[in-house]
Amino acid sequence: MSRLHHHHLLQLMCSLLISAELVSGTTGGDDMAVLIQLKAFLRAHNQINRGAYDGWPEASPSPCGSWRGVGCDADGRVSSLDLSSSSISGPLFGNFSGLSGLVRLDLSDNSIAGELPADLDRCVGLQHLNLSYNLISGALGVPSLTKLRTLDVSRNRLEGEVVVVSGNFNFLGACDDLVVLNVSGNSLGGDIAGLLGNCPRLRYVDLSMNGFTGRVTQGIASLAQFSAAENRLSGTVPPGVFPERCGLQSLDLSGNRLSGSFPDSVSNCPGLTYLSLSGNGFGGQIPAGVGAIPGLETLILGSNSFDREMPLSLTNCTALRYLDISGNGFGGEVQGLFAKLESLTHLILHSNSYTGGIVSSGILGLPKLAMLDLSLNRFSGKLPTEVTSMASIKYLVLAENTFSGQIPAAYGQIAQLQVLDLSYNNLTGGIPADVGSLSSLLVLMLAGNQLSGEIPKEIGNCTSLLWLNLAANRLSGQIPPEIAGVGRDPSPTFARNQKDAAELEIGTGKCPSVVRWIPLGYPGFNYVESEMSWKDCRSLEDRILKGYGCQGTCCQDKYHPWFLQ
Ligand SMILES: *[C@@H]1O[C@H](CO)[C@@H](O)[C@H](O)[C@H]1NC(C)=O
Ligand SMILES: *[C@@H]1O[C@H](CO)[C@@H](O)[C@H](O)[C@H]1NC(C)=O
Ligand SMILES: *[C@@H]1O[C@H](CO)[C@@H](O)[C@H](O)[C@H]1NC(C)=O
Ligand SMILES: *[C@@H]1O[C@H](CO)[C@@H](O)[C@H](O)[C@H]1NC(C)=O
Ligand SMILES: *[C@@H]1O[C@H](CO)[C@@H](O)[C@H](O)[C@H]1NC(C)=O
Ligand SMILES: *[C@@H]1O[C@H](CO)[C@@H](O)[C@H](O)[C@H]1NC(C)=O
Repeated sequence: MSRLHHHHLLQLMCSLLISAELVSGTTGGDDMAVLIQLKAFLRAHNQINRGAYDGWPEASPSPCGSWRGVGCDADGRVSSLDLSSSSISGPLFGNFSGLSGLVRLDLSDNSIAGELPADLDRCVGLQHLNLSYNLISGALGVPSLTKLRTLDVSRNRLEGEVVVVSGNFNFLGACDDLVVLNVSGNSLGGDIAGLLGNCPRLRYVDLSMNGFTGRVTQGIASLAQFSAAENRLSGTVPPGVFPERCGLQSLDLSGNRLSGSFPDSVSNCPGLTYLSLSGNGFGGQIPAGVGAIPGLETLILGSNSFDREMPLSLTNCTALRYLDISGNGFGGEVQGLFAKLESLTHLILHSNSYTGGIVSSGILGLPKLAMLDLSLNRFSGKLPTEVTSMASIKYLVLAENTFSGQIPAAYGQIAQLQVLDLSYNNLTGGIPADVGSLSSLLVLMLAGNQLSGEIPKEIGNCTSLLWLNLAANRLSGQIPPEIAGVGRDPSPTFARNQKDAAELEIGTGKCPSVVRWIPLGYPGFNYVESEMSWKDCRSLEDRILKGYGCQGTCCQDKYHPWFLQ
């Protein structure tokens, strides 16, 4: 390369650099001024706990790169701001529109209160807005944010009616690009009929835990995911809701006032993996159409009035892992059909009136069964020793039946067992010392029986054990000093569970077991329990079992103490 060329090239590069600097220097500078304003605003409203914004170095030439949570586009403008989980309280900052290149704004999981400021609606470039898990109140209204692809305002205190006005949601001027809409856990209302089917790209809709009314109508079949759990939907679900080429992958209608039989036409949704209808008034046969959905993994039919006779087609659901038919008033023997569902990892039969058939139904031979919940039935006689040969069993919940006799010493051989809940039965005899071999055990519930004798010192070997309830028995003697070893180190069990955390949720979606494990008398839990939705119970149980602790208002301590009284 000649000297001249070289010189020109250098000059060119320099001028390019200078102009690039000028560009980022101006717009980036404006953005930086807004962020410095934001930082001052957040500091003023948060005197004690402060998030990463507190460390934003104001002396740096640009917020791009080094400021935590700040992302920039190629022109050096601030395009994304992530202040999630930053302990922010106080009102929402009213100058975000000063960030003219802002595309993503995530303020989720804070304690931001008050109404949405008018300024937010001036952030017209926003494509992704996440305000979930805050205390935002008032009406939902962002009419000018017509570029939104994701709107997540779940778990706030928003109120008002959501309706469709000339093809658009009344809170959004246009929904041409909207893909994800999550308004769950607010106090929104309105008739859901006609709410869907107007936004061409909408795929994921969560309206759960609000006050929506009306009937389930056509329009949901074009979505991949629809949840309207815990609202006030009523009436029947007509077959036309699932037309041919229904694209649903996940459908949750639990906790409404729906009735009638559920349509067989659900078989038109071959991609469905998750179906929850729990907590409604559905009756008649469990829809035979589910048998034509080969990939169905989770089927939750609890708390309805389904017929005891199940369609044989259910055995075609070879991918079914989670089956919950609790609270349907089923009596007699456990149905043998369950034993044919060989992929089952979770079988939830609590709150029925079953009297027998635990062994003869074959369910104890299910090779992958990890959770078996038979609580709140009318099982009697001796505890089945066959559970000791269940290779995968981790959660065995036999509470609130009338089992009698002794706790089989062989239960101590179920090495992988994490939850053993035998509480509120009619068990007698001593607590077998063999439970000391259960080194993965997290929960041991033996309360409300007629167990006698001393507490075996071997319980101290249960180094994972965190929830131990022996209350309301006839135990005598001293609390052995070895018990100090209980729960010394649950981390091996937790580590294993967290590794498997990508698997299904563990929680059964009903509160009884959580309530047994965290007694109402526990400070603060009484109130919390009455406020808890099924989803909350489910995720609380899930968190406990997966070893993420028990977060939130119900848990003052990291873990729960033992109840020996
Ligand atoms: C918003 O910007 C205006 C103009 O720069 C300024 O006067 C006002 O104080 C800002 N508000 C906050 C909360 O920083
Ligand atoms: C919004 O934020 C919450 C909490 O940080 C997160 O769980 C959720 O997935 C986010 N929503 C979307 C649509 O990404
Ligand atoms: C809201 O729903 C969307 C779509 O299902 C989901 O991606 C998002 O994680 C949900 N938000 C929260 C806070 O769970
Ligand atoms: C279930 O599978 C059998 C064959 O194994 C088939 O005859 C039947 O039609 C299937 N049922 C449904 C509802 O798809
Ligand atoms: C529990 O056992 C006691 C003593 O064996 C018996 O008197 C009582 O009837 C039993 N209760 C139930 C509910 O089976
Ligand atoms: C179990 O506990 C007993 C008594 O505390 C002790 O002697 C024994 O070594 C322990 N066994 C194991 C396997 O830790």
